[in-house]
Amino acid sequence: MKYTVTLIPGDGIGPEVTGATRQVIEAAGAPIEWEVVHAGQRAFEETGIPVPGAVLSSIRRNRVALKGPLATPKGKGFRSANVTIRQELQLYTGLRPVRSLPGVKTPYSNVDLVVLRENTEDLYAGIEHEVKPGHVISLKVSTRHAGERIAKWAFEYMRWRGRRKISCCAKPAVSPLADGAFLDAFATIGEDYPFIQQDTLPVDNLAMELAMDPTRFDVLLLQNLYGDILSDLCAGLVGGLGVVPGANIGDTTAVFEAVHGTAPDIQGKGIANPLAVLLSGVMMLEFMGEKKVADRIERAVWDVLSEGKHLTGDLGGTANTAEFTAALIDKL
Ligand code: NAI
Repeated sequence: MKYTVTLIPGDGIGPEVTGATRQVIEAAGAPIEWEVVHAGQRAFEETGIPVPGAVLSSIRRNRVALKGPLATPKGKGFRSANVTIRQELQLYTGLRPVRSLPGVKTPYSNVDLVVLRENTEDLYAGIEHEVKPGHVISLKVSTRHAGERIAKWAFEYMRWRGRRKISCCAKPAVSPLADGAFLDAFATIGEDYPFIQQDTLPVDNLAMELAMDPTRFDVLLLQNLYGDILSDLCAGLVGGLGVVPGANIGDTTAVFEAVHGTAPDIQGKGIANPLAVLLSGVMMLEFMGEKKVADRIERAVWDVLSEGKHLTGDLGGTANTAEFTAALIDKL
């Protein structure tokens, strides 16, 4: 049986890294047919709309998508294409596993964290208003419903993944109502999971603690903006944006994508690291029940990284995207 998966190549380095990922997934024998649709800058240039209806209907139909990074046209009054996709499809959980990788030298060698980010609210609601010239207000949205929805998802994830401890981090001293509601929702849902360790700490404190010893954390539950910022910090702990995968998951659909953006500084040079998108593809295969193919790709990644002969520049090597991809396919 073949599955149809929506593929959004993306902007900037997107087509380079999703192209490499597609090659590896196909070489591993995954039973996938790709339905390619475009969003972001490319879609805007072609249709005048950053997220055409055909993109959303393709994801709704196939339930699963693999996505490259998207650029949002600046100064045109458009909301971010990524935020639009997450909100339209109610992909309320941002899931970002952050693990130390073999052969990637970092200050900590045994990081194993999961960042869970509430994806639909907070400042990303996009409610901004210039009251008078030079005076802007931007609203942070926080509903009990969204807080409880992601808390429930988080605890169920932990239960099935055998994760032990969850830390919910916010800044209630500054936003007692908005952040307070998120923390209250966490505490309420947490009552149903007494066997999972739960704690809370200020998000600024979390940033410092992560820099000092990330191994003392297991799962982090964060609102949208804190989650955005801290998942980049966590990526830095294990080798940078080129290696950290992610998924945006709702009740009926899921979009898998790297944490990184379009990397315009290296676009078109053929040197981008495709690993973050490839590992997002591995998460996608697991999600679809294709565990064997997912494991085969992951083993190939581990082998290539451990050997250290074909690493891309961001990991201290000299291989380009094509050489790294060929080394992975060779291992398969
Ligand atoms: P970025 O993640 O694109 O780049 C930050 C730095 O990391 C750059 O030096 C870049 O070269 C490097 N980098 C990123 N991915 C890499 C990879 N795979 N291999 C090697 N090096 C890599 O962040 P930036 O510059 O803030 O954003 C650029 C654009 O991307 C913006 O338009 C932004 O809106 C968009 N963006 C899109 C995201 C998405 O589609 N999910 C996420 C973040 C940003």
